[in-house]
Amino acid sequence: MSIVDEINQLKKERDAVILAHYYVNDEVQAIADYVGDSFYLSKIATAVEARTILFCGVSFMGESAKILNPEKTVIMPDMAADCPMAHMADIEKINQVREEYEDVAVVCYINSTAELKTYSDVCVTSSNALKIVKALPNHHIFFIPDEHLGRYVAYQAPEKHFIFNDGFCHVHKSITGESVAKAKEAHPKAEILVHPECTMDVISQADYVGSTSGIIEYASKSSAEEFIVCTELGVLYELKSKNPNKKFYSAGDSQCCPDMKLITLEKVKDALEKMTNAVEMEEEMRIRANKPLERMLELG
Ligand code: 13P
Ligand code: SF4
Repeated sequence: MSIVDEINQLKKERDAVILAHYYVNDEVQAIADYVGDSFYLSKIATAVEARTILFCGVSFMGESAKILNPEKTVIMPDMAADCPMAHMADIEKINQVREEYEDVAVVCYINSTAELKTYSDVCVTSSNALKIVKALPNHHIFFIPDEHLGRYVAYQAPEKHFIFNDGFCHVHKSITGESVAKAKEAHPKAEILVHPECTMDVISQADYVGSTSGIIEYASKSSAEEFIVCTELGVLYELKSKNPNKKFYSAGDSQCCPDMKLITLEKVKDALEKMTNAVEMEEEMRIRANKPLERMLELG
């Protein structure tokens, strides 16, 4: 039996469904039941009927699925797959900002630990952050942990006052304004597709800015034939399968998330076989972290 057959067999035995983010290895995306961006995956996690969710992504994704679906078993192929940015905010700073600004909303990018979510008013993803910030009644917005997504949203919501945090994604930060300009020089007809975790130097050159799903949808509908991709290169799997005749170029030289790439078919099979690596959390923390996530699902 091939490893893919074994995984399919185990999926039936365990009543499991496989969710995968666009940044995981191609062969893992290929066997997943649902592949998408962070917002799509958190919505799907609440809609699937299977008893077990195997989440091919980083810890905050599995944690969010568990927080939203406590009755399900959520397992991760590799518990070490963690997003460094998810830890880049400080509880003390949140408390300080709350003291300073009475009406502040702490807006927490879903790329964050469950603990950070418990101190937040609402969660957002890259695909709904602007819509949610605009819908909030609060004037002051403390955006955690990602400075760059925060700045991109602030630029489009000038009616709000933003307080920024200094978190960042090392993969998106490695793409520089100069490297994008160079890629454009080499491919002048190419459209520039940018994830909003990039710096404003990169965003300001974009033809399209959006989440991984947004980028894939835009490139598939665009009449352009060439694109410069400014995000993690796992998206190329879906971009190329949907658009076999279009050309995609990278903008930098380290657009690879080592944490996402920890997920392999062997680990998927192992986790299903042994039912190890279940996401567990104290109920009190889960309830508190669930509030901003549920609010995101309502507003987003
Ligand atoms: P999206 O899937 O929302 O585009 O986010 C990208 C990301 O960095 C996930 O880790
Ligand atoms: Fe985190 Fe960046 Fe990797 Fe996404 S690509 S999981 S934000 S380190």
